[in-house]
Amino acid sequence: MRSDLCGNVTEQKLDQQVEVCGWVDKRRDHGGVIFIDLRDHSGILQVVVEPDNEEAFKIAEDARYEYCLHVKGHVRNRPEGQENTNLNSGKIEVVVDKYEVLNKSKPLPFMLDEDAGEAIRLKHRYLDLRRPDMQKNMRLRSKLTHALRGYLDSMDFLDMETPILTKATPEGARDFLVPSRVQQAKFFALPQSPQLFKQLLMMSGMDRYYQIARCFRDEDLRADRQPEFTQLDIEMAFVDQEDVLNMAEGMIRETYKKVLDVDLVNPFPRMTYADAMSKYGSDKPDLRIDLELVDVADAVKNVEFKVFSTPANDPNGRVTILKVPEGGKMSRKQIDDYAPYVARYGARGLAWIKVNAKENGREGLQSPIVKFLDDNSLNAIIKKTNAENGDLLFFGAGDYTTVSQYMGELRLKVAKDLEMVKEGWQPLWVVDFPMFEYNDDEKRWDALHHPFTAPICDENELRENPGEAISKGYDIVMNGVEMGGGSIRIHQQNIQSTVLELLGISKDEAEAKFGFLLEALQYGCPPHGGIALGLDRMAALMCGVESIREVIAFPKTSSAICPLTSAPSDIPASQLAEAHVQAIYPEIEDSEEDEE
Ligand code: AMO
Ligand code: AMP
Repeated sequence: MRSDLCGNVTEQKLDQQVEVCGWVDKRRDHGGVIFIDLRDHSGILQVVVEPDNEEAFKIAEDARYEYCLHVKGHVRNRPEGQENTNLNSGKIEVVVDKYEVLNKSKPLPFMLDEDAGEAIRLKHRYLDLRRPDMQKNMRLRSKLTHALRGYLDSMDFLDMETPILTKATPEGARDFLVPSRVQQAKFFALPQSPQLFKQLLMMSGMDRYYQIARCFRDEDLRADRQPEFTQLDIEMAFVDQEDVLNMAEGMIRETYKKVLDVDLVNPFPRMTYADAMSKYGSDKPDLRIDLELVDVADAVKNVEFKVFSTPANDPNGRVTILKVPEGGKMSRKQIDDYAPYVARYGARGLAWIKVNAKENGREGLQSPIVKFLDDNSLNAIIKKTNAENGDLLFFGAGDYTTVSQYMGELRLKVAKDLEMVKEGWQPLWVVDFPMFEYNDDEKRWDALHHPFTAPICDENELRENPGEAISKGYDIVMNGVEMGGGSIRIHQQNIQSTVLELLGISKDEAEAKFGFLLEALQYGCPPHGGIALGLDRMAALMCGVESIREVIAFPKTSSAICPLTSAPSDIPASQLAEAHVQAIYPEIEDSEEDEE
């Protein structure tokens, strides 16, 4: 139907005939001439309908926003002074010979160039996706998957599919369940990831596998979490940690070059989990921010102020400082506003000191807590943090995990507020994760990655001191976003059983849940490992958008619904009965009647 895309018609086509299709982005009438900005995914083209083309002019007078058109015409220069340097086609226009309305449009529920609310955008996603920003995001995402596939294909990875109707995979979220009609009162679970299948494929001799895989997790949603999302899932046989990291790093570097023409540092820096928590209060530090936490427990062990001295003397405690260079400029209100912010992450207060004139000792320090601290500890604090006049010190004190978390969040927030986040790309491997974290509520160990991750130590050490065990797990972090994670897997059945036992999973439960994996481990399983990249997060980072919803064609809202299709929805009782499912509707709990 068309000879050219709107955005590609330039002065090179001068005096030639073109045939284009698109949507009416704008219509203007000027002195009896109709100007239409015709838009397709490639850009905008100015189309002119002159009154002497009577037939076309009559129809074009009716043109409205988002009418879908087919136009034939010839290209001519725009009159002098009328060029639009923002457009690729800005020097020319197309004078219409033939004008056809392919379809009319009702007035739109929102203007495509306005900042409409997300609910309405998602309800009419097919319109929202017409917006140039969304076109750009979707096209970048497609380029990204293409580049990733190209790399993996060239490295002899097999592109394989794994089941969607399957059994629960333990990635730590709730499962989405699907009732079986044929097997009465039995359920499939949708995969939280293809984890167990990709391990089985390594046991099957496939050697190298990848899949752009949909994963399903029923968890609380945030800007970077969707109930169904996409992973680039990878697994390799006969590898150690170094092999996987090198392969993934090469892939990410080449992809950034191809998609964004960006050269990432070579090699990516690496940091242990312990260092990341200690310096940045996070297992996904944003290295674009120069601020680091400085622990000062030693300086406050003997002070009267219990808020500091208690955690300073507790092996599980932490007293740390975030020094904000020139933060002294902040007003009292600005400083105080950070207290409720960190309270969201468990802080019970946020002490601070403004260093006005450190040469004057305590007189030169402005703070509600200086009076609780002796001169020695004040001097030690200033020395340890290298504080200069004009700096602001924020204190976090309490148990290690909580303090790390809220001070890590404070670091991000302050850097953002004070525009201290540098431009550019900062990849980072975080390695040496602990195997387990203690679950205080349930009084047992939880796997920090997943239960199939191999420990660095042997079985005896693992049993003796699970809390100290380090895993062969790793995360790839980009600009403070956890872009992906993986591990070397356990390939020996005894270690796998020990880990499951430590996780409080009984033999029977293990057998029922993943007996098939435990059995497969006994038939010559090769050492193997892999990684999964969050494709949505990778695309969102590359597009420079905050939410992964901006790079998913049809996402769910933060309350896990699809406003476009109104899913999830009621199911007729007859269909439920067929699936052997009885729905409990909160409002009509006691009612015997069927709702059709
Ligand atoms: P993990 O659970 O760390 O590992 O997931 C890997 C990556 O997937 C992305 N991700 C998500 N993206 C959007 N919405 C979500 N709800 C969501 N959850 C996770 C993140 C994360 O880094 N089977 C292992 C991988 C392995 O060991 O090979 C796994 O799924 O970017
Ligand atoms: P309080 O004695 O509880 O009024 O606290 C005195 C100062 O210490 C206030 O500025 C609090 O914000 C701060 N503070 C209290 N608890 C903590 C904590 N756990 N970490 C850091 N500062 C705290």
